[in-house]
Amino acid sequence: MTRNDGVLSNARVVLADHVIETGWIALSNGTIAEVGEGRPPERGEDFGGDLLLPGLVELHTDHLEAHYMPRPKVHWNPVAAVVSYDGQLATSGITTVLDSLRVWREEGIAEADGEAEILAGAIAAARSDGLLRIEHFLHLRCEVPMPGVVAEARSLLGRPDVRLISLMDHTPGQRQFRDERKLRDYYRGKKGGLSDAELDRLFAQRIRNQETHGSRNYSALVELAARHATPLASHDDTTLDHVQQSVADGVAIAEFPTTVEAAEALHAAGVRVLMGAPNLVRGGSHAGNVATADLARAGTLDILSSDYVPASLLMAALGLPAAASNHDLPAAVRTVTKTPAEAVGLHDRGEIAPGKRADLIRVRVANDIPAVRSVWLRGTRVA
Ligand SMILES: [Fe+2]
Repeated sequence: MTRNDGVLSNARVVLADHVIETGWIALSNGTIAEVGEGRPPERGEDFGGDLLLPGLVELHTDHLEAHYMPRPKVHWNPVAAVVSYDGQLATSGITTVLDSLRVWREEGIAEADGEAEILAGAIAAARSDGLLRIEHFLHLRCEVPMPGVVAEARSLLGRPDVRLISLMDHTPGQRQFRDERKLRDYYRGKKGGLSDAELDRLFAQRIRNQETHGSRNYSALVELAARHATPLASHDDTTLDHVQQSVADGVAIAEFPTTVEAAEALHAAGVRVLMGAPNLVRGGSHAGNVATADLARAGTLDILSSDYVPASLLMAALGLPAAASNHDLPAAVRTVTKTPAEAVGLHDRGEIAPGKRADLIRVRVANDIPAVRSVWLRGTRVA
């Protein structure tokens, strides 16, 4: 990793509101010192016309789980998993990530149950040992009806790197899985594949959990987030009642609203609407819900998230102007940089402008496929 206090030149520089077709930027002390057009004041790294973008800011990815549990019931060394995941994010152009950890313990589901503490510890260990390329924060994904969720969230909130709490409810027959068959397909295809009888028992238990713990846990988690001044996200808002509740509870981000109606109302109320980049790249939702591109065309999309495919973030952002002509390139890039950064209070990054952190990526695009060629974090080359 080499320190770069120099100049990056001959680049197509994407600013927050316009593009400099041939431009340069000067770096100093880990921040952007100057931005210019044409020939740079001194020789620097020649981009040969490649794109120069702010490093991407990812608010919701559970991809660490794929590195930590690469096969059903096979656990990798958690710190080694964090290191390889971190490398994959860096080469996907992501320089700030909120690692989504599932605060979700449930009998009968052998996924990442009770592993949030282990993974949070592994991220902290990798960070303090200097093994990470990019900056990591935590996003606690709390499954509201689970009996132990409040206690677990409370213990994790003691960590200084928690930046976001999302409130999820995957009780069958509503929100993401209004169509219960989709939920069955989801779990059948998942690690461990459950039988119909096992799914019947699981779903019945989820409905009981929601009845018993749902509303009390919800209030306790909202209160906990407020006490720690941690931004809140809603998840899979579907109806106007969901929207009303999110707005009343001061939610900053709405993850994956499932209907156009909910997304419009959330966006109009100033809640930032976050949608899946894979959904945009693939042309639809894997769960049969609203398409990201439709929300983008309607002007209600604020933030893209790579969700389960890190490389989708950059692909989707660069493909957005073609999918939704109301987005020029700067507007598309804002959905993966400035808007998500500001939504979680990171005002020091997310755009190319003097004084901002020099978190930057160099990207070459051929036949609509982007490749990240270099990555800088605070002006230091990390990939
Ligand atoms: Fe969901």
